[in-house]
Amino acid sequence: MKALSIVGARPQFIKIGPLSDELRQRHQEILVHTGQHYDHGMSASFFEELDLPTPDYHLGIGSGLHGAQTGAMLAAIEAVLLKENPDAVIVYGDTNSTLAGALAAAKLHIPIAHVEAGLRSFNRAMPEEINRVLTDHVSTWLFAPSAPAAERLGREGIVGGVHIVGDIMLDALRRHRERALTRSEVLERLRLPPQGYYVATVHRAENADDRQKLGGLVEAMSCLDLPVVFPLHPRTRGRMVEFGMKPGGNVRTLEPVGYLDMLALQAQAACVLTDSGGVQKEAYYLGVPCVTLRDETEWVETLAAGWNVLAGTDPARILAAVRGRAREGNPPPLYGDGTTARRIVSILSDWAQDGPVKGKKT
Ligand code: UD1
Ligand code: UDP
Repeated sequence: MKALSIVGARPQFIKIGPLSDELRQRHQEILVHTGQHYDHGMSASFFEELDLPTPDYHLGIGSGLHGAQTGAMLAAIEAVLLKENPDAVIVYGDTNSTLAGALAAAKLHIPIAHVEAGLRSFNRAMPEEINRVLTDHVSTWLFAPSAPAAERLGREGIVGGVHIVGDIMLDALRRHRERALTRSEVLERLRLPPQGYYVATVHRAENADDRQKLGGLVEAMSCLDLPVVFPLHPRTRGRMVEFGMKPGGNVRTLEPVGYLDMLALQAQAACVLTDSGGVQKEAYYLGVPCVTLRDETEWVETLAAGWNVLAGTDPARILAAVRGRAREGNPPPLYGDGTTARRIVSILSDWAQDGPVKGKKT
């Protein structure tokens, strides 16, 4: 089988590692990078540190308004698909790169595998919600991380092609956790004692682009009782400059850090504060309490398990959630066992053995 994988944003670089390795043992993979993320610390650094395959195509799309960015990707991906004529296209998550890849493939009747299918926030104001709903509805294989995700698809009338395979980010974390803990020197560099600090990330448009919400988050961090390591996503850095916000107290803003440093920082933090989907799950897998800086999450099972709390952007609510963070024991498995890549490739391989036919539905 000739598979064509499409990535473009930071979390997708982390997700392709395990799947590319597994896929390339049995099949040909063409890798397309849309260029949605392009700063060294948001893109190339992950390819270098995680030894990811070099993209066969780098589309260099860059930033832009949603329509312009997604449209430019759509046109550029279509040209690659026409040239490469793959048997299947693989897309990840819920970014504009995901939607553009899925739409381009759907229009050319190329079967689509959606990794991380069935996630919903039920908040259509989020660009990611639009991207995930539309991608799921044109996909052939819906690789869901959990049974509830598969059930959500069922409620939207999607039943064929749904496979519960676990979370590909757990594969990545299992693969790199040891190396992160033994090799990363980030705590020494920042002079932080294990358990003696918090780590925070903020990048959702609904938080970063809203002066009041971002102000609430920065105020909450500035009032915390331990140092806060705050690697800044470029969107957030830009808005903080524009809004003239400077965190006070013990907040240490940084450039985005590499994946190994990020895992090391999370693993040894007293608590994680974030609006990131990937970071919420990583905190969970690492057994670190998480305070989610949103009013809803797609990863609701982590809330029910008691390791994640929704705190929105109100400083008092955030401070109370951090104070009440105590957890004991190990979090129960929710999203598989770290063998998601193998499961996905096995399903795609079975299909390929029957002789891939363009437009064929599983
Ligand atoms: C995107 C995804 C989001 C995902 C996040 C992961 C969409 C709609 N959003 O959000 O789902 O959680 O990536 O990090 O696809 N910028 C730079 N350098 C870069 C990249 C971005 O300076 O390398 C700045 C630009 O000003 C850009 C802004 O960040 O306009 C936002 O980037 P964009 O890719 O549009 O959205 P993200 O917020 O990164
Ligand atoms: N991450 C990283 N460095 C950082 C911030 C995040 O390596 O400075 C990693 C994090 O560990 C996780 C992924 O990026 O694996 C999450 O991506 P992001 O928060 O950008 O997007 P989301 O998961 O919300 O889509």
